[in-house]
Amino acid sequence: MPVAAQPCDIGFVGAGVMGKNLIMNLVDNGFRVIAFDLDQSKLEALQAQDDAERGDSPPRVLTCNSYTDLLASLSAPHLIVVSVPAGSPVDDVCHKLVDAGLQADDIVVDTGNSLWTDTQRRETEYEGQFILFSTAVSGGEVGARFGPSLMPSGDPYAWTRIKPMWEAIAAKVDPDTGKPIERKAPGEVVAKGEPCAAYIGPSGSGHYVKMVHNGIEYADMQLICEAYQVMRDALAMSASEIAAVFRRWNEGLLNSYLIEISAEVLDTVDAETGAPLVEMILDKAGQKGTGLWTAVSSLELGCPAPTIAEAVYARSISTLKDQRVKAASLLAGPDFDKPSAEQRDSLIDQLHDALYCAKICAYAQGFDLMRTAAKEQGWTLNYGEIAKIWRAGCIIRAVFLQSIADAYERNEELENLLLDQYFAEQISSNQRNWRKAVANASLWGVPVAALSSALSYYDAYRTAVLPANLLQGQRDYFGAHAFERVDKPRGKKYHVEWSDPARPMTRLK
Ligand code: 6PG
Repeated sequence: MPVAAQPCDIGFVGAGVMGKNLIMNLVDNGFRVIAFDLDQSKLEALQAQDDAERGDSPPRVLTCNSYTDLLASLSAPHLIVVSVPAGSPVDDVCHKLVDAGLQADDIVVDTGNSLWTDTQRRETEYEGQFILFSTAVSGGEVGARFGPSLMPSGDPYAWTRIKPMWEAIAAKVDPDTGKPIERKAPGEVVAKGEPCAAYIGPSGSGHYVKMVHNGIEYADMQLICEAYQVMRDALAMSASEIAAVFRRWNEGLLNSYLIEISAEVLDTVDAETGAPLVEMILDKAGQKGTGLWTAVSSLELGCPAPTIAEAVYARSISTLKDQRVKAASLLAGPDFDKPSAEQRDSLIDQLHDALYCAKICAYAQGFDLMRTAAKEQGWTLNYGEIAKIWRAGCIIRAVFLQSIADAYERNEELENLLLDQYFAEQISSNQRNWRKAVANASLWGVPVAALSSALSYYDAYRTAVLPANLLQGQRDYFGAHAFERVDKPRGKKYHVEWSDPARPMTRLK
């Protein structure tokens, strides 16, 4: 039975945190939405939010109690967004929608953090039953409400259906400055600016790009945390002093949402104890899996992303709290003196430059990963556009993304961000401090796995001759794995009889 007197523009399954805020964003932008959730209290909360925000105007959000009513309230071909936790809940909803009468030309849009291979599998599995489209969403609760970054992918026809809605609700960027256009109040809409929503490519590509976004997010967060730890443990700075440093950094090259919120977290006082709240939070990091997936993908593709992987490991080692507490009294650290108060300012400057250079490397790794995956999957990704839709709305939003977009505008075929002249110069002029920061942290015994892995990545990437020649020798010695020679054409393989004193060499076919 239709719940709406006239058909709605779009239906939602799932009115949890993300679903509810996307719905409110859509209604602010004038779209008619009908929502269904198995949990009635979520629908009540959605309606309560609409009641609180709409003032004297009539209710803008409609809700219903079954999949059948949801379909009946939409005109065909139906357009339905699924906002449920990634994994089997997405398939459960798809099956229920099919049972309720979904048709082959209906569109189902998965907006969760789905594993990209699940999205590919689903597109094939549901072919003929309905069109599975996806849109990866970044920006958390506030982003969903006032402007997320959206990474849609899949069937191009489905994109034409949902494009006007996604472009309306997405975060917007001022094209002249590359900076986000703020939108913070319910009812507000931003009609101007470049929307942070762009079609990414075939099925799976949008979720792959979002996965890499999250991998970069892990690295970015870990790098900031390492700078915090050096200031806290080596420079003996208080949480509010560190917050002040982050706020200053946020005025310059490091300007980003993550630096901004880090300063706010550090400046918050615990109401119960009066201590900085950050010091009352247990140092055990959680993770939902997207950073891990990024690291696994980099290993599978043989595309180095060590700073992202280190960020995942940093979360893992943080969970070993009880062992670390035991080890803290057992395992000796270095006996180098901690720096004096007079040295503080210059050491903070070193940390700033280290964070900036390492951040460039983390992004270089993420973009290289997307490039490598695209090659393998046969996707044509527009890296400049991806950087642009990350300038606002998403968790890694930063002015820095404009520089990445510019780099790809200079050269669409750029193999690695480090090869772009601007970034090469940025690292070249800041690397001295980066090296000093990493060296000092190691002398003081403060772990900086992400900052130093980025430095090793940079050094390895700029090294024409790595020690892999010896490694190939070792492999050939014990396993006859063969090697190429520097003085012979690539692809020709050689093997040496290492145990024979004459060391005869054979060329393998
Ligand atoms: C985003 C976030 C969002 C979520 C991550 C973090 O872009 O909005 O990345 O997707 O916060 O899943 O997850 P972890 O729990 O793994 O840190």
